[in-house]
Amino acid sequence: MIEQNSKNINIHEITRLILAAKEKAMKETESTPEPGLTGLIKWPVTCLVGPGLEGAISCETKVGYVNGAKGWLIYRGYDIFDLCAYSTFEEVSYLLLFGELPSKEALDVFKKKLIDYRSIINTQRFLMSFALEEMNTMAAMRMGVNFMRQEFSYKGARAENKVVIGSDEDSIAMETTPRGEERAIYEFAREEDEKERELEMCYHLIGGVPAIAATISRIRNGKLPIEPDPSLSHSANFLYMMTGIRPTPLEERIMDVCLILHADHGMNASTFAAMVVASTLSDFYFSIGSGIAALNGPLHGGANEQVMNMLKEISSPENVKSWLQDKIDKKARVMGFGHRVYKAYDPRARVLGPLAEYLASFSDAETQKLFQTAKVLEQEVITAFGAKKGIFPNVDFYSGIVYSCLGIQAELFTPIFAVSRVAGWTSRVLEYLKNNRIFRPRAMYVGDFAKE
Ligand code: ACO
Repeated sequence: MIEQNSKNINIHEITRLILAAKEKAMKETESTPEPGLTGLIKWPVTCLVGPGLEGAISCETKVGYVNGAKGWLIYRGYDIFDLCAYSTFEEVSYLLLFGELPSKEALDVFKKKLIDYRSIINTQRFLMSFALEEMNTMAAMRMGVNFMRQEFSYKGARAENKVVIGSDEDSIAMETTPRGEERAIYEFAREEDEKERELEMCYHLIGGVPAIAATISRIRNGKLPIEPDPSLSHSANFLYMMTGIRPTPLEERIMDVCLILHADHGMNASTFAAMVVASTLSDFYFSIGSGIAALNGPLHGGANEQVMNMLKEISSPENVKSWLQDKIDKKARVMGFGHRVYKAYDPRARVLGPLAEYLASFSDAETQKLFQTAKVLEQEVITAFGAKKGIFPNVDFYSGIVYSCLGIQAELFTPIFAVSRVAGWTSRVLEYLKNNRIFRPRAMYVGDFAKE
């Protein structure tokens, strides 16, 4: 947690670090050949497919682009380093959803939508009915999205003057669940004039999911959930709803950069899971719930929490070598390293590494030691595997240290990933639905045929 000489922390240093990371990335990958840009695809497409759909192309997209050889990450044509340096999470969410950066007026309208949907009082009430302190935080997130589904139906029914059973202040939330309509009114739009409702659900999810994470955090810490502050930015309000304290501009900026970095990333497992569910014409809330479920796994978003456990287990830079040798001997995975697409340094880790270093230098001795352990581990893993296997730190390696410097507990790391990625999930689902075709790959049958 940041404490030492924190008055000397300079918010402008964050932008400088991001731009320095960009320069380093450009220099280090200068000689890597430019990718053969895809251009127009004509279906059916021929490509080499490995297990786990490696190399498979499943759809067309304009949302984002990842180039693993160069270490590029692009959202709608904009480089991730530039977005981190000069943009905000609200602008980036708008960009992902609509394909262009917003005008001042469009941004104001968009922000107002997100602010309205920060308030998910019924969902917070439902969550309070559960022993969240005994529950996996991602399980609670998924449950929260289901409750948001119910809440959206309630809002819709209320707006249309339909009869609903509301929960009043004195009731136990689960006794008087707002029922909304019997038929789900939030299923994917079939008609052009229903598209607005689809967008409304995207705003609801992007605005409301942070409130779920914040509520889970508070309840787990024995505190009551709090209402949002509409005067705060998306990131500042998220921190405020978690801690009850309005964050400093520096804390707000750090959280904003983290949310921008995690917002979208190609056809990763959770995005694909969300899209598969959407492709059946289920609905947005089920689809995002599936994204959350997939993100939870330690091979995906759950790795950030595992990295912290691993660094604590190693405990000091001196132990790194023997610890790593043991893992290599056992052919075990080192959490926070490796990536299906990146065989170069992950650009998100290029930003998070220096941020972690900067923040750790103002933090307590324990955090500093954790960072130093991470730095030595990075060098050792790159020496052991780096060039040979293309294994470098990924987004999950340094994010936990950054969050720890903000005073956030490890079990919240993966939920924060979801708070950000919901922008990418909704954008890609929206895009895919325009030309929807149910996902249905095949398996290679290697079993018997004629058993008797
Ligand atoms: N530690 C040690 N070796 C590794 C690691 C690692 N973290 N990652 C890959 N390798 C090795 C594999 O053992 C394999 O070696 P081999 O060819 O000698 O058998 C080789 O690199 C290729 O690995 P694959 O399993 O084919 O890579 P895949 O693309 O299937 O997996 C994954 C990618 C899951 C991210 C993997 O690198 C991993 O398990 N990393 C650790 C977990 C992690 O950090 N996940 C977060 C990823 S980022 C995100 O999802 C947000």
